[in-house]
Amino acid sequence: MTDVKLYSGESIPLEMHKAKIIQKINLAPIEHRLEAISEAGNNTFLLRNSDVFLDMLTDSGVNAMSDHQLAAMMIADDSYAGSETFYRMESKIQELFNKQYFLPAHQGRACENLLCQVFVEPGSIVPMNYHFTTTKAHIVLNGGVVEEIFTEDALQVTSDNPFKGNMDIKKLEALIEKHGADKIPFVRLETGTNLIGGQPHSLQNLREIRKVCDQAGLMLVLDASLLADNLFFIKTREEEYKNKSIREITREISDLCDIIYFSARKLGCARGGGICTNNEEAYLKLRELVPLLEGFLTYGGMSVREMEAITVGLEETMDVDMVNQGPQFIEYMVTELQKKGVPVVTPAGGLGCHIDASAFLPHLQQTEYPSGALASALYLVSGVRGMERGTLSEQREENGEETLAHLELLRLAVPRRVFTMSHLKYAIDRIAWLYENRDLVGGLTFVEEPKILRFFFGKLDTTTDWQTKLVAKFKEDFGDSP
Ligand SMILES: Cc1ncc(COP(=O)(O)O)c(C=O)c1O
Repeated sequence: MTDVKLYSGESIPLEMHKAKIIQKINLAPIEHRLEAISEAGNNTFLLRNSDVFLDMLTDSGVNAMSDHQLAAMMIADDSYAGSETFYRMESKIQELFNKQYFLPAHQGRACENLLCQVFVEPGSIVPMNYHFTTTKAHIVLNGGVVEEIFTEDALQVTSDNPFKGNMDIKKLEALIEKHGADKIPFVRLETGTNLIGGQPHSLQNLREIRKVCDQAGLMLVLDASLLADNLFFIKTREEEYKNKSIREITREISDLCDIIYFSARKLGCARGGGICTNNEEAYLKLRELVPLLEGFLTYGGMSVREMEAITVGLEETMDVDMVNQGPQFIEYMVTELQKKGVPVVTPAGGLGCHIDASAFLPHLQQTEYPSGALASALYLVSGVRGMERGTLSEQREENGEETLAHLELLRLAVPRRVFTMSHLKYAIDRIAWLYENRDLVGGLTFVEEPKILRFFFGKLDTTTDWQTKLVAKFKEDFGDSP
């Protein structure tokens, strides 16, 4: 993206790519959307894609691929063992991350499964800047607990701290002092923090974490799934990196970490994942599980075509015009929504535009799932599918009590190279309309509640007939326009 100034004086982010292959999408009438969201139990995960206009659920596995990625898929070497495709991927990882050993896995959570099965045991404590749902689930499944040691700003919805994803170094030192390094299998840093608004960490912070890990003899594991956005923020927000290339920043990050794992559904714009390290002992332990859980060592559950696309996608991630695409569109959305008074997470982060559901729907209790209600209401009035990131995404305690989320957010993901400016303008317009009519939005209650990762399959009903009233107001204002 390049920020260009228009003759009108307005500056807009301009896409540095053009569409070569397109997918038709459908904007169904509001009556149809009401039926669809009711059938989906007000859970946007359960909507059929054909009922969705703009799919802003996630950036996972839905980033647009480039012509070079598609071309590379044609030369994939389809063999169970010893595939040339694997060696091309391994060598790209070695080149970019300077890590000798690479283990393929079918996606990010598979890497977490391998890492947790090998390193986490009952009583383990895993410090991290913030958890991700699947990461926490795997740590807990293996008997460990997660300790989040974020800085004070991390949970402030609005802030001018450019690095809200930083780890609190003092808290890290105190945690190690309190429990002893023996209880800590590794320290995990999540780059681009998924659940707190795609907020980045600084390289300065990473250097400090490394120092503490060295003093305590601890391994540092980087979840690099959202690395692309974080690279851009380091370059643009951290003075000393302004003149460094994305490649140089990647290398510096990597050299500070013992193990790097990633979801290539995000990093690399295809579908897969992997773990890389220079630690031979860790590699050998992890390697034993790969054929058992993922597939042979030269594909790890991935299709060789996807592996070729990831290899090219990783190289393309070194291009600043690629890594700035998400953050600059997100910043545009955040700025425009702020102008209309809509409460959003600031500063604008990566991954998506995050709406503060607590401030949007202050009349709802957290136990009425404001973020889930907002996701349902926004789909209803626009066909835009966002993702609940609040209490509904938490797990209920054993005693039946709710675990209230730190933040109630509606995430509107902006997958890379997918949407156009008019798509964003449409989404902004409908969100602003919904904000003006926010009093009409009511809560949700579970009718089917799975015990683990309930947000994926759970079904909910509205607490009142608020959706019918919202549809009536929409018709009043927009007539027959979808
Ligand atoms: C930070 C982070 N870690 C891990 C994962 C899990 O990756 P996957 O969805 O490929 O299993 C995700 C996915 O969203 C993520 O954002």
